[in-house]
Amino acid sequence: MTAAIRITVNGQEHAVHAAPRTPLLYVLRNDLCLNGPKYGCGLGECGACAVLIGGRAVRACTIPVSAVVGRPVTTLEGLGTAAHPHPVQAAFIAESAAQCGYCMNGMIVATTALLARIPQPSEAQIRAALRHHLCRCGTHVEILAAVRRAARELTA
Ligand code: FES
Ligand code: FES
Repeated sequence: MTAAIRITVNGQEHAVHAAPRTPLLYVLRNDLCLNGPKYGCGLGECGACAVLIGGRAVRACTIPVSAVVGRPVTTLEGLGTAAHPHPVQAAFIAESAAQCGYCMNGMIVATTALLARIPQPSEAQIRAALRHHLCRCGTHVEILAAVRRAARELTA
């Protein structure tokens, strides 16, 4: 049995038994049953697994669990609930931005990080923030509209 690694996720502390190099994504999904972050590529290239760490969108498939000791993690589940969605989540719903929905976790997490840093981003800043988040369904027009809507509603 490996020694417990203590991590804080969505405001709750957890002691997880995993090898230190285990990808954070595996721990979130398999040990903590947080399935908002998705496994897409496992290579840090698609963005489906993003979580918030220190206000930045970080790819949970490439960061080892040991690297988040003392660095609280927020997942999609920590933003809002179905009954009380975060304004960014609500904006994505309002714009019908999801088709299959697989990329939505990363898009929403990246948008949340962007708007915390730049409340009223330019079109170029939005595109730059989402550039490395892939959507195979091609709902990019709706995704961009959702980001603009979230920016408007968060600064209203
Ligand atoms: S699953 Fe992490 S970037 Fe693709
Ligand atoms: S909605 Fe299907 S991958 Fe983006």
